[in-house]
Amino acid sequence: MDEQLGTIKVKLRNISKSFYSRKEVFEAVDNISIDVYENEFLVLLGPGQCGKTVLLNMISGLESPTEGTVQFTDNNATDVGFVFQKTAVFPWKTVMENVELPLELKKEDKTERRKRAQYLIDLVGLNGFENSLPKQLSGGMKQRVGIARAYANNPQVLLMDEPFGALDAQTRYQMEEEVLRIWEQEKRTVIFVTNNIEEAVYLADRVIVLSSCPAKVKEIYNIKLQRPRDYVNQDFLRLREAIEKNTDLAL
Ligand SMILES: Nc1ncnc2c1ncn2[C@@H]1O[C@H](COP(=O)(O)OP(=O)(O)OP(=O)(O)O)[C@@H](O)[C@H]1O
Ligand SMILES: [Mg+2]
Repeated sequence: MDEQLGTIKVKLRNISKSFYSRKEVFEAVDNISIDVYENEFLVLLGPGQCGKTVLLNMISGLESPTEGTVQFTDNNATDVGFVFQKTAVFPWKTVMENVELPLELKKEDKTERRKRAQYLIDLVGLNGFENSLPKQLSGGMKQRVGIARAYANNPQVLLMDEPFGALDAQTRYQMEEEVLRIWEQEKRTVIFVTNNIEEAVYLADRVIVLSSCPAKVKEIYNIKLQRPRDYVNQDFLRLREAIEKNTDLAL
């Protein structure tokens, strides 16, 4: 236990991932060790194609590491909600049906799952859109559906893979505020991936900067700025600049 950061929720130890084809070995993640703390908002910041999604997939158990271990300290069972990089809502299902789906798969009682789904729909600000189909929603609203669905199973850890990457700047700012509001209300351990430094400093308790491919841990920043944060505050800008100098991001 770290005095300042609290209880460790997930331990990544010496994680590496290589992909093998007939001709070559491609190394995507190289020897990453990270402790993730309970209820922290952790941001993994790295350039495009550096191995961020591969890393999240290993945390979620969708892929297994070539070397190293991922350990969930509570019960050692993977218990994650995943907000995917590309909006992954089912186009033929309504907002309500999309959010209810994980609970339906768990064979949860219909009244109970409707109640939970309605709570989450309200939480993400989609009240009134329960019966809408995804094609009737904007990009930001679809991502809200993705966030509500990721929360449906009440996961211990929430993985978010560049959830706002495809949104225009204005909507992105709005969604960043929303995701913090939801996190304040439904405290969870969040691991949020982005290639956007401003977004990282705005959201994170801690930013872990990853190198270009294969992803390695380059630097770790504890962000102590008070929330709500201000993009043009001097301390914010100083921190942003310090990180900018220390990344492989092409800006
Ligand atoms: N199943 C796979 N087989 C072979 N190579 C893969 C596989 N999955 C990912 N890669 C490669 O690993 C590298 C890292 O991929 P990854 O999707 O993790 O990058 P990323 O950091 O998420 O990129 P982006 O910012 O574009 O989302 C890429 O070069 C990709 O082509
Ligand atoms: Mg990715």
